[in-house]
Amino acid sequence: MYNSKITGVGKYLPENIVTNADLEKIMETSDEWIQERTGIKERRHIVKGDGNSTSVMGIKAARIAIARAGLEPKEIDFILFATLSPDYYFPGSGVLVQEALDIPNCPAMDIRMQCSGFVYAVATADQFIKTGMYQNILVIGSEYHSGGLDMTTRGRNISVIFGDGAGAVVMSRTTNPSEGILSSHLYSQGKYAEELSLIGPNTGRWVPEIMALNDPEDISYYPYMNGQFVFKNAVVRFAEVIQEGLEKTGWNSEQIGLLIPHQANLRIAQFVQKKFRLREDQVYNNIQRYGNTTAASIPIALTEAWEEGKVTEGSKIVLAAFGSGFTWGSVMIQW
Ligand SMILES: CC(C)(COP(=O)(O)OP(=O)(O)OC[C@H]1O[C@@H](n2cnc3c(N)ncnc32)[C@H](O)[C@@H]1OP(=O)(O)O)[C@@H](O)C(=O)NCCC(=O)NCCS
Repeated sequence: MYNSKITGVGKYLPENIVTNADLEKIMETSDEWIQERTGIKERRHIVKGDGNSTSVMGIKAARIAIARAGLEPKEIDFILFATLSPDYYFPGSGVLVQEALDIPNCPAMDIRMQCSGFVYAVATADQFIKTGMYQNILVIGSEYHSGGLDMTTRGRNISVIFGDGAGAVVMSRTTNPSEGILSSHLYSQGKYAEELSLIGPNTGRWVPEIMALNDPEDISYYPYMNGQFVFKNAVVRFAEVIQEGLEKTGWNSEQIGLLIPHQANLRIAQFVQKKFRLREDQVYNNIQRYGNTTAASIPIALTEAWEEGKVTEGSKIVLAAFGSGFTWGSVMIQW
């Protein structure tokens, strides 16, 4: 019987810091509004021409994770790449990683589950390891949001929230059933697909058609979010799926070493913290510095927490996410 465990973590954040004060200069917003509603103080944005892209950031994070796992890239036998902002419409970004890391013929698969992408990817990797099919899987979450946001007052409810960055982990086989990924729980609800979405261009309406219309009212190529509706669903789903993980593992909330929630909004994380009566030191948040980096947020936070010595052997770690789809999930890890 095989189990999977995380053996290496890595992250990459672009150097360019965009503060709330910077945003005040280009749209009608305020540091006070952003901090009060979201907790965010600053985020990172790629500077066009700095050589970064979704895959490039992912590769930088991946190299660190692979080295920390004590492996060579050629020992990776599967790549999972979670993103909603791939380099190309197709192919996915995973194959670009495979080429850059020079791993001949290694299968690479993109996961399109938005903010829940990393949780879905870890759960998927876990299954491939448990069945014995693969031994070392590279899981990446990377997002380049800033190039596709409406950075005017019209888009402020979304553009102040999202940031760029990447995180990665290596998951490897273990024969110890009581360590590593103990359980994962995944859900989706397509009924609310359009409540947090980017619907144009799509296969029914390609770019030339949108451009030919030249309709200034058509902003379907920018992300849309029904913020309050998303918020209300997120707090319910986060709580449900964490509770399910606790029941499955038999852990109680006091035993949680660290809950790493997807960094959607500090208020959502605080709500969840209160719901499970968790202490400050049991929940990891870094949205204040990076904003919401969607599929990258959990691996960035996990890496940072690990680097700070907050994730150590024996820690009980809970990952949980909610996002567009709607999709949500949790992963319970005995580190
Ligand atoms: C986006 C979010 C912060 C907005 O907060 P909110 O309290 O719901 O705010 P609303 O959208 O109702 O807008 C309230 C007012 O603030 C204004 N506003 C919106 N964005 C603003 C900004 N960046 N700066 C200043 N004012 C802003 C609105 O125009 C509105 O003004 P009005 O009352 O004059 O119409 C909040 O809904 C949220 O965090 N939702 C969840 C988002 C999320 O987690 N997404 C990712 C999921 S993975």
